[in-house]
Amino acid sequence: MRAAGPMRNHLCMDLDPGGGAGHGTAAIVEWSGPMLAAAADEAMRIYAIAMNYPEYTGAQRAVTARRHTTNDGFAARAAFGPDGTLVGFGYGYTTKPGQWWHDLVRRALTKQADPRWLHDAFELSEIHVLPDWQGHGIGRRLIVSLAAAIPHSTILLSTPDADTRAFRLYHHLGFVDLARNYLFPGDTRPFAVLGLRLPMAAAEGNRAVGQTPSGKDS
Ligand SMILES: CC(C)(COP(=O)(O)OP(=O)(O)OC[C@H]1O[C@@H](n2cnc3c(N)ncnc32)[C@H](O)[C@@H]1OP(=O)(O)O)[C@@H](O)C(=O)NCCC(=O)NCCS
Repeated sequence: MRAAGPMRNHLCMDLDPGGGAGHGTAAIVEWSGPMLAAAADEAMRIYAIAMNYPEYTGAQRAVTARRHTTNDGFAARAAFGPDGTLVGFGYGYTTKPGQWWHDLVRRALTKQADPRWLHDAFELSEIHVLPDWQGHGIGRRLIVSLAAAIPHSTILLSTPDADTRAFRLYHHLGFVDLARNYLFPGDTRPFAVLGLRLPMAAAEGNRAVGQTPSGKDS
């Protein structure tokens, strides 16, 4: 892989052990909006590979990701292998009324949980790790690093509602189920909407559907 200028010019934030498939240690670094924009094609190639989507979807998603980099509250992290290869990334931004995902999730939460979760929330829009590097703590480190830096009260995300590595990781980190089996327009797969209150506690267990941001049952 080509390591573009902006990708090399990063602030090294986390070099704790936890490599992938004998490749060595991955470094978790902060990415600004312009850095993700410059690396969007490479990052979304990882998105397509990790999600097992056709290659062309990566190019489409790169256009969207570049647009996201100017959203309020944007924050991103990248994971690099020892040779400077991008092996994973995660990013998000403040979720707001009028955004496609926000308005649909508000509808889902109104039915199944407390919509106050959407107030002052960071939408974790994408998080992906190359298959060879998965299962070695990189996804966890990307989320923990983001959670420690953003000023929001909650992190929200949606993920296919199935027993996936992603779902297991989110629950392990303390994300709770806010909506299950939700159908987004244009996708036949059921999705789950998950939420995590910030600051992040040590690994918490799964919590029940319907919990409020303050921790009280709705
Ligand atoms: C989801 C994804 C980003 C997670 O990144 P990752 O580096 O693989 O995740 P991690 O290694 O940090 O954690 C995942 C695994 O470790 C487990 N885990 C993480 N930290 C743990 C800990 N401290 N103790 C126990 N288990 C832990 C998780 O439960 C999961 O384990 P399992 O698959 O063996 O059940 C990555 O797997 C991926 O790209 N998947 C495909 C694309 C995708 O689904 N993206 C998200 C869409 S919403």
